Amino acid sequence: MNKTLDEARQLFSEIAAGLNNLHLKNTTVIVAPSHPYLNEAVTTLKQKVKIAAQNCSEYDNGAYTGEVSASMLKSLAVTHVIIGHSERRNFFNETNQLIKQKIIQALKNNLCPIFCIGENLEQRNSNIHFDVVKLQLTDVLNGFSKSEIENIVIAYEPVWAIGTGVTASSEQAQEMHQFIRKQLALLTDENTSSEISILYGGSCNEKNARELFLCPDVDGGLIGGASLKANSFLSIINTSISLQ
Ligand code: PGA
Repeated sequence: MNKTLDEARQLFSEIAAGLNNLHLKNTTVIVAPSHPYLNEAVTTLKQKVKIAAQNCSEYDNGAYTGEVSASMLKSLAVTHVIIGHSERRNFFNETNQLIKQKIIQALKNNLCPIFCIGENLEQRNSNIHFDVVKLQLTDVLNGFSKSEIENIVIAYEPVWAIGTGVTASSEQAQEMHQFIRKQLALLTDENTSSEISILYGGSCNEKNARELFLCPDVDGGLIGGASLKANSFLSIINTSISLQ
């Protein structure tokens, strides 16, 4: 929940100008603005960037005042939607079951869900972080077919690292990403699991992106604070390109 329309426009045009000078190779760039700015982002950035929403409703359509459906997003040429971000879980009481319904809506409307999971500080300190992440994955993904799961992007975001300036070390990130990939292999198979993108999120910035992206199971980042300034966001994109 950042930026006014003018500020968002400015950011989009700076990102668009920066991307004109970059050859993205195999890097996929996704910009996920707040709902009111989605159309603006599609118009300004669509040539080189995919556009994500930050949330969608668990319902199809109808009398749900204030909600935004997956089909509305699809009609705006949005391609992705972030689902189950820890802020949604914490401040808006989103449960695994609700998150599952939202992922069903996204897939039904051919949107790629960016499904967020991750433990909080207390859970990590109690050494139950693997159990927590496993439960989030299985609670939500059980019952989905292999072809549905392969259309989902996972974002591992340790809650203690989001917006705090504390990043998971590359060892901590790799260890958890490897664990997530193993769980995904159990839900699908090894081949499918190896193709699923697992992003790291939590104070990822232009200084630490290289070390994190070098981890074999870290396929990219979900960037919060550092994406609010075009220069730092472009620098992270550049890091990804340079590692290909
Ligand atoms: P951060 O946010 O990069 O500012 O920690 C990440 C997020 O909100 O997912």
